[in-house]
Amino acid sequence: MAAPPLLRWGLTLSAALVAIAVAFKLQKPLADPSPSAPATTTHCYRHVRTHDAEQPSAQCFSVGGGLFESVWTPDVTVQDSALDGYVIPGLWDGHGHLLQYGEFLHSVDLFGSRSLDEARARIRAYVEANPGAGSKDQWLRGVGWDQTFFGRMPTAADLDEDDSLKGLYMLLDRIDVHCAWVSQPVLALLPPHVPDVPGGEVVRDPGMGVFCDNAMDLVTDLWPKPGPAAKTRMVGTAMRRLNEVGLVGMHDAGATPANLDLFSRLADADDWTVRVYGMLECDARNTFCPDDAVKYDREDGRFTVRSVKLFAGNPPTFYSLTLLFVPSLTLTWFPDGALGSWGSAMLEPYTDHPWTSGSLLINASSLADVAKAWARAGFQVNIHAIGDLANRNAVDALEAALQQECPGAPPEECQAQRRFRIEHAQIIHPADQHRIRALGILPSIQPTHATSDMKYAAARLGEPRLRDEAYRMKSLLDDGRRPVVLGSDFPVEPADPFQGIYAAVTRRSPHTGLGADGSTRGWHTEQALTLDETLRGFTLGVAYGAFLEGKAGVIAPGAYADWVVLDEPIDKLDVETLRSIKVRETWVAGKRVFSRHD
Ligand SMILES: *[C@@H]1O[C@H](CO)[C@@H](O)[C@H](O)[C@H]1NC(C)=O
Ligand SMILES: [Zn+2]
Repeated sequence: MAAPPLLRWGLTLSAALVAIAVAFKLQKPLADPSPSAPATTTHCYRHVRTHDAEQPSAQCFSVGGGLFESVWTPDVTVQDSALDGYVIPGLWDGHGHLLQYGEFLHSVDLFGSRSLDEARARIRAYVEANPGAGSKDQWLRGVGWDQTFFGRMPTAADLDEDDSLKGLYMLLDRIDVHCAWVSQPVLALLPPHVPDVPGGEVVRDPGMGVFCDNAMDLVTDLWPKPGPAAKTRMVGTAMRRLNEVGLVGMHDAGATPANLDLFSRLADADDWTVRVYGMLECDARNTFCPDDAVKYDREDGRFTVRSVKLFAGNPPTFYSLTLLFVPSLTLTWFPDGALGSWGSAMLEPYTDHPWTSGSLLINASSLADVAKAWARAGFQVNIHAIGDLANRNAVDALEAALQQECPGAPPEECQAQRRFRIEHAQIIHPADQHRIRALGILPSIQPTHATSDMKYAAARLGEPRLRDEAYRMKSLLDDGRRPVVLGSDFPVEPADPFQGIYAAVTRRSPHTGLGADGSTRGWHTEQALTLDETLRGFTLGVAYGAFLEGKAGVIAPGAYADWVVLDEPIDKLDVETLRSIKVRETWVAGKRVFSRHD
């Protein structure tokens, strides 16, 4: 490997500079920055994993203008003890929900509260840490209470009993998000005699304060939806947390035109520390909304929109804007849209509910029509599909859109340009798996969905379908001809990509380390990925799915200078430790955005 241009003037000198940089642990400019030439900084570590085929590993790189300039290994051995840390390219999440994650983080965690006193104590602590929460315009939200711990249904009066909570507006979702518990000020907004609601329950005993199912609308309709200022705070909180787990970028799997517009303005600010590739979702789901079809593109790569999100099967039902993404609960409890609740549209009935095969949100011809309209408008089309019928319709729609866009050309060539995706791609008939590979359609997969669903997947699907169709990873990799897009679906699942990496490699729960049968045997490990394939999925794969190859997920000259520092070399670690890796530092565009304080 030739010496990098920056250091052509002397390897000895370069080594000396490295030694100096290391000795002082400074990331100082090599030369004084002049106004016209941005500063260049040099960083050296014990090892740098680059994901660059030309130079898979290195020790040093230089950064200027937010990009990697050169990457090299010094010829003169640098004292090993002088170098610290192991670098991997910055990680990306291929499917998450930025604003919803922020909303989730800005709410009181009531999970596992074993008494009313404990619930009140947690709310009190939240109010102390978040002054202003609970005002008339900024209600306090929470989720996770369970009356079985309280011995009875809670009431508004229970919240009022605590002097420091008196007068605050609160809307607290039960663990299954099927009931909302509100405080006295919210109750006071309702008429004195609250009527019964068909399909819901107004709980009146031992007192007023809890509203279930359809009756939840009575109170959620009154909730002042977060405005731009609140959303800005939520996004900021979300980005800090994402940086903490080593994420430098994410694909936002469905944002409204108004939220994308807000993001495009926030992306100028210094605290916008996560690159966002947004998928537009029209205000009316599954429609073509040309007036809102705004693309965004920035030279600095902080915010991009050129794709649209459609839904083949039922999406999760959201009772209110917030909190309905509760880790692991969503999949189990939501009334439709997921395997756990028999909502995903299947070709054949569910094994344990043979009277249903789920339902489609939109029929096949309408899905193809809307996919073609977006393709014609120049958008990447990304279709949410869980069940095998939804996946079949998604493949049909994308194939039709490719034929429309490139008449007479092989669809796989067209697809290489257009990069249409299937989000989740969870249960796919073998014939459609074959078509996905042949067409080159990109599967966007969340490895922790497999490990969250594995406990009931066999009951829902039966063994043959499980074996041939469900939660593919390896089969969709297509022998590595093209990367898969990996992600988490945060806040449905934890955002920590190392949990997804563990789940992909072991097919065991990152929470317990156990497989579906409670043993340490992985679940259908024939679909597991290698660590290398997985890391590429969380970097190069996500980058390819966003037309960012060469720019993201790689440490190479000209790429975004985004990297993560770990304490240990990831490929030498005991696989069991993957799920608890704590990132040491995260860098985006050459700036340190997270540093762990031990
Ligand atoms: C699909 O749905 C559209 C819109 O609801 C409807 O007009 C059309 O007839 C349906 N097509 C089929 C084949 O059911
Ligand atoms: Zn999602």
